[in-house]
This record gives sequence, structure tokens and C-alpha cells, in this order.
Amino acid sequence: MTTSDKGALWGGRFEGSMDPTMVPLNLSLDIDHRLWREDVQGSIAWARALGEAAVIPEEAAAEIADGLGRVRQRLESEGIPSDAPDEDIHALIERLLGEEVGVLAKRLHTGRSRNDQVATDLRLWGMKATGLLEADLAGVQRALLDLADRGMEIVMPGYTHLQQGQPIRAAHWAMSHFWPLERDRVRLGRVKAAAGVLPLGSGAVAGCPFPIDRRALAADLGFHSISENSLDAVSDRDWVVELLSAAVLVGLHTSRLAEDLVLFSTKEFGFLRLSDGFSTGSSLMPQKRNPDVAELARGRTGRLVGSLTSVLTILKGLPTGYNRDLQEDKAAIFQAFDSLRLVLPAVAGAVATAEFQPGRIHDALAGELLATDLADYLVRRGVPFRDAHEAIGHLVRRAEERGCAIEDLSDADFERASDGFDTDVRDVFDMTASVEARDLPGGTSRRAVEEQMIAARAALPDGDGID
Ligand code: ARG
Repeated sequence: MTTSDKGALWGGRFEGSMDPTMVPLNLSLDIDHRLWREDVQGSIAWARALGEAAVIPEEAAAEIADGLGRVRQRLESEGIPSDAPDEDIHALIERLLGEEVGVLAKRLHTGRSRNDQVATDLRLWGMKATGLLEADLAGVQRALLDLADRGMEIVMPGYTHLQQGQPIRAAHWAMSHFWPLERDRVRLGRVKAAAGVLPLGSGAVAGCPFPIDRRALAADLGFHSISENSLDAVSDRDWVVELLSAAVLVGLHTSRLAEDLVLFSTKEFGFLRLSDGFSTGSSLMPQKRNPDVAELARGRTGRLVGSLTSVLTILKGLPTGYNRDLQEDKAAIFQAFDSLRLVLPAVAGAVATAEFQPGRIHDALAGELLATDLADYLVRRGVPFRDAHEAIGHLVRRAEERGCAIEDLSDADFERASDGFDTDVRDVFDMTASVEARDLPGGTSRRAVEEQMIAARAALPDGDGID
């Protein structure tokens, strides 16, 4: 793309031309061209508002709006011209409008600045972007619900410190990844609301001197309210930070899901098998089956953190009002959005096609997983929990010394550990009984998990969730 300051939106005041080293630095079209739809949409609304307020004749406003409609059609069919000489998307749209309506195009920017214009465009984009991300998240969530269905009958080790802790249903594990994403989806809804405050009508810094109805303009563009202070409005990027923070949390959550997928699909665990469609081989080692989908998802989180850090750094200590530093917000937010839109559908597909390996999971269940249940058995028979804990500790040690499982210890061993034991202690050695005992809401019994899944389904939108 070649560009110069010829035809720039601010040429009148300057005699000399822009230094060649400054030209590419000044350019933002390569990034902000993505806002063309929002720029056209905002400009059509602005033209109409100027007409309604009789700042420009109604017919002129209508002609400009029609011209912008034709610019939209042209960009829709031809795309952004690769040789566009414009500094940014705002300059490009105004130039194309000139090609449609001639000198009338010069009236569009009345009372408006690129400062309130770009802030408006980006918020319009943000409102749509959050909706798309919410829909992508719902896709992963639906895949997790299906995985949970497939894991309802499977009892697996539940881990703490990556050491076997207590048995859980595999469905419970799958659902443990659903809820963080549900919080993310709700959070994105709040970010959408944060973006939905209209800056247009703030001008460059001091507001607009023409009697524009900003509330009507907001309603026209789908904003729920208008900004209260023009100086704040042109430089407020709080919602960008909120979107990036929400994106980082999505990244953290998918990276943790990804890590479980990596771990559980190893030869050592073998709890899960990822489908061929989401695995890759090695160019050297013929046997390899690598969980690249999960590793790439995990790795992408770095970029998300980078985007958030970048915007926080840009905003910190900026003087009041618009500063050109703010132009950098777009690279960060687009990159985070693009990363998630790549990652989430692939993760959804990997989860949807992953298969539990019940045999391997069953073989991994060690008797010690029931140590807490043994202590609970003693508690039910009146032994204080601390004493019960110690008694079971002794049993675990004894089994370890003998190189056997706890359930293989003799009745005499049990009696020696605590006089609270009776022969029915053998009933405790049942993984299903253990999970069924955790029947409070949020627990891992069949009923509790089913209730959890009903709540999860009810939380998800019907269809693709894009409104
Ligand atoms: N490309 C600019 C941005 O993204 C548009 C606003 C330019 N404003 C200005 N005063 N130079 O922030």
C-alpha cells in the first residue's frame, strides 16, 4: 500500500510534506480497514443526524447517506482497494464517498472528529465481536456437555496436586470445564454493555456545537446510552481493557482444558483419545500422535496476555483527551479476537470428537482413592474425624509396606488400626458407592451431576446464540 499526506484530511495547515519515514508509521489502514462496515454505519447515522438537526439540508443528508450505501456495496463486492493511498479507514471512506456524491462529501465531517469517530467505530465493532465470541464459547460448552454425557457411567480418579484424590464421574470432570466458560460468556455480555456507550457527538475534545440529538443517534446505532463527558469519551478505552481481560480469562480456561487433554491423552494416562482430525503426526517418529490442537490452544494464551499488557501499557499515564497512542488499541484487540475465533471452534471440535477410554481409566483407579471414604465410615460409627484420619493413615502405610492394596489387608489389620471397624467395611471398597455418596448439589453423584447438566443446558442460548 502506498500512501502520502496528499489528500490527507488535515492538509490545509501544512506547507511541507510528510517525511518518508513518517508515512508508514502514520498509516493505520492496514489494521483499521477492518472497521469499514462500522465506519460506514456510523457515518450514515451521523449524516442523518446532521440533516435532522438542520445543520445540513435534509436532501444533502439523504444524498450522503445513499452515497455511503453505495460505498458499502462497492466495498462489499470489491473489498478494500490494495493500492488505497489513505492514512486510515476514515479517510478512505470519505474519499470513496466523494467518488459517489462529489463535493457533498465535504459536508459529512461537520461537527465530528476522527477522535469520536474511531471511538464509535471500535465500540460498534466490539458489540458485534463480543456476540461472536459468546457464540464460539457456547460451541465449546455444548461439546463439553456431550462429553459429559459420554462420561456419566465412567468413574475416574479426581486429582489434587495431580495426585489421585477421590473418585469422580468423568462427566463431573468434563463439566468442571463448562462452568469457567459459562462465567466467560456472562462476562462477555457485560463487556458488550460496557462497549454500548456512544462517544459520537463528543467532537475532538470539547463536544459538538451543533444541535445533534445524541440520544436518538445512540438508539439509531444500537447503543444503550451516551457518554457523559466529551473529553473522557474520546480517550476512554476501559471497555477494551475489559474485553481483553475477558479474552485472557477465556484463554486461561481453554489452556487448562487443553492441558488436561494433553495429559489425559498421553500413553501414561490414556484416559482420552483425541480424534485424527485434531491430532498430528511426527515427520520423524512414525508412532507419534500429538495433541497439537490442545498445545496450540494453550500456546495462544500468551498472545492474549500480550494484547492485554499492550493496552494497559498504552493507557497508563496518558494525558487527558485523545492521544495518537490510542491507535494501537486496534492491533491488540483484533489480534485477541482473531486468536479466540481460531482457537475456540477447534477446541470445540476436539472435545466433541474425544473419546474416553474406560478400560484405561478403570485400571488407573487405585484403592487409596477410597481412603477418605474409609475415614467417613469410621466417622459414621462415632469415631472423631481426626482419629479416623490417623487410623486410615496407618492402614495406607501398612499396605504400602506390604506392597498390597488397602482392600487386600486382613480383617486383623483393620481391627488393629481402629476398633470402629466391622466386617461391613468391605462395602466401602466400591468406587461407585463413593461417588454416589457425594449427593449434595455440586457433587459427583449421578443425581447431582445430572442436575448440574440441566442447569448448564438451561444457561446456554438456543441456536447459535448470536443476537
Ligand atoms: N487512526 C486514528 C486512530 O485509530 C484515528 C483517529 C485519528 N485522530 C487524530 N487526531 N489523529 O486512533
